[in-house]
Amino acid sequence: MTHVVDEEFEASVTGRLAVIEDELVKAAVADSPFVTEAARHIIDAGGKRFRPLLVVLGSAFGQGTSETDLTRAALVVELTHVASLYHDDVMDDADLRRGAPSANRRWDNSIAILVGDYLFSRASTLVADLGTDYVRLQAETFGRLVQGQIAETRGPQEGDDPLEHYLQVISDKTGSLIATSAVFGGMVAGASREILEALDAFGEEIGVVFQLSDDIIDITSNETGKTPGTDLREGVPTLPTLMLQASQDPADQALKELISSDLSDDARLADALEQLRAHPVIEQARAEVQRHADLALAHLESLPDGEAKQALSRICLDLVGRSN
Ligand code: IPE
Ligand code: IPE
Ligand code: MG
Ligand code: MG
Repeated sequence: MTHVVDEEFEASVTGRLAVIEDELVKAAVADSPFVTEAARHIIDAGGKRFRPLLVVLGSAFGQGTSETDLTRAALVVELTHVASLYHDDVMDDADLRRGAPSANRRWDNSIAILVGDYLFSRASTLVADLGTDYVRLQAETFGRLVQGQIAETRGPQEGDDPLEHYLQVISDKTGSLIATSAVFGGMVAGASREILEALDAFGEEIGVVFQLSDDIIDITSNETGKTPGTDLREGVPTLPTLMLQASQDPADQALKELISSDLSDDARLADALEQLRAHPVIEQARAEVQRHADLALAHLESLPDGEAKQALSRICLDLVGRSN
């Protein structure tokens, strides 16, 4: 990295993330060895731990924090996230998650759904120890996440603009929990209302950036630990495909038809991916991600300067071109 980073600050973030990592594995313990194994399966497979990182960075904007509460808040958001991945992989009929077989593939759909529910229950127990304000925010967040997933599954209805529908879906399914991660960090550190509002607005927008990038790299990257082209195969509209569908250029007609057709055949999916990767909509979509990243950065302006603010701004910019 070319950025200048304060070593002490970096060490404190890394140290806290290491504690969270240890506690995450313990948090998944259940009454039977089978449920423990199934609940740990996707946790053990790794993941970027992006939401815990936001909790830790958000906590730098308050008066100081109890380490126990900070860890608890980070566990709540990561467990909620992992649980949603168990369910999402059933919805997408996914084979791979974090480079490992998805739970629905390793066991079956029922096990994946129920183990996801078990992880939600673990998040609920932990959030209860943080207090009612946290329980309410967690419940509202989970409500938005689920409604986003439902809206995506149903697709735009008569009279809905497909692009607006898509942006609402990604705010709800992804922006909500990422915003809450940053806010939880602020809350455990006793940050002011103004700061919590700025963290919320920043988190929501960086969540949109995160999901827009995820949708681009579903097409362009082989490093995600997930099967490329899952959204295409499942017919889930994303920014590049929505942009392509809006194109009036006759030269795009054949590709538009291909991506709307049955892509369950691996060779057809590979063909669609190859053509999309070479198409200008990928760059156009990235420009739109950059625009949202700039919106996110603007929400940081009111926060006090310092290492945490710099880290958030760097993370935001790095997300635009990410490949995993
Ligand atoms: C995947 O989230 C689901 C989305 C919201 C795009 P992440 O990309 O954070 O997945 P992990 O936690 O690193 O595996
Ligand atoms: C799922 O979005 C978001 C949630 C789990 C709430 P995606 O379907 O794009 O996530 P990936 O690509 O499978 O990780
Ligand atoms: Mg998915
Ligand atoms: Mg995806």
